[in-house]
Formats: sequence, C-alpha cells, structure tokens
Amino acid sequence: MKESFVALMLACIVGSCLAELTDKRAMTLLNRYGFSDGEPSTDSDIKRAIEDFQDFHSLEQTGELDKETKALLHMPRCGLPDVQDDGNGRRTKRFVTTPYKWDKFHLTWGILNYTTDLQLQVFNAALQFWSDDSALTFEYTADPTSVDIVISFVSGDHGDGYPFDGTDLAHAFLPVDVSDPISGDVHLNDAINLG
Ligand SMILES: *[C@@H]1O[C@H](CO)[C@@H](O)[C@H](O)[C@H]1NC(C)=O
Repeated sequence: MKESFVALMLACIVGSCLAELTDKRAMTLLNRYGFSDGEPSTDSDIKRAIEDFQDFHSLEQTGELDKETKALLHMPRCGLPDVQDDGNGRRTKRFVTTPYKWDKFHLTWGILNYTTDLQLQVFNAALQFWSDDSALTFEYTADPTSVDIVISFVSGDHGDGYPFDGTDLAHAFLPVDVSDPISGDVHLNDAINLG
C-alpha cells in the first residue's frame, strides 16, 4: 500500500516534470516560429502567442496548449518562422508572394551528398509537380557544384545562420540575389529520419 503510494507520487512528479519540459519546448517553438519576441513567459504573453499560432493554423483559438495545438506545434516541419516582423514592428505571414524570382525558366539542380536512385526519383517527382503548374523546367545535373538548386543533407548548425532544430524537416532559400550561390538551395535535416 505504502509502496504503491510512493510509486504513484513518483509517477506524478515525473509526469509533471515531463509536462513542464513539454511546455518549455512549446514556448521555444512559439518563439522560433515567429509568434512572440523571445520565449513568452507571462500568462498573457503565452496566451496571446498560442492564440496567434492557432489563428494562423486555423485551429480553434482557445489560448491553451490543447491536444490539437500541441500536436501541430510539435510536428516536424519547415524550420523558418510562419510569421515575421515586417520591419515596422508588425507581424506578417511569411508565405506571401515575394518580388524575388529567377531570371530564367530553365533551372538545373543537383544533390551535394547522399545521392541514391530513390532520392533522384523522389526529387524528380517533386520537381515535376512544380514544373507541371509553372513555366519552370528542371534539369538534373550530376555535378552539383554549378547548379541553380543545390540539395544537401545537413544537420544542426550548418553555417547558413538558420541552424536546424529537432523538429525542422528542411528549408530553402529564395532567389533573392541569383548571383549568390545559396539562392534556391534546399537543406534537408539529416538528423530526422525521413524514411
Ligand atoms: C553534406 O554536405 C554538407 C556541406 O558540405 C555537410 O555540411 C554535411 O555534413 C553533408 N552531409 C552528409 C550527410 O554527409
């Protein structure tokens, strides 16, 4: 009886620590995805950040880390923020049409590392979707050193200023300045099993 009570107590303590850890991680992610400046810590900041996240993702705005919200927040995803500061202190959606575009329609692409036939098929199929609905065409080039879109598998801090976190699947660079070699490049998080 006594032992099972102790076990129950322990389970509760471990349980609440886990809950705290999850919440801490949730605050880190809300900040990372652009829903607050710094990790939200006061109750009202936390509520507002969660509501903004829910609003952005068309979830019911409960202001609480309910099941749906948690699931979406912790899901592996693109590592860049959903919203960003527009320079005037306002948050705007990141998925807007930008003035940046390629100065040509035919783009070459290659894989810097980990090339297998399966990868080629997967990327080919994905790029085919894109070219089917746009004016762009894509050409695979075995030597990735001089292609427009370099695909690489990297992990953690990989030197581009956007270190991967445990839930980031991938990110890509807009052709802001097409003379910059990183324009168009795609980084996939090698620390995540994309199986
Ligand atoms: C792929 O290449 C990048 C850039 O050279 C490197 O940082 C990364 O570690 C490589 N990844 C693998 C899985 O070898």
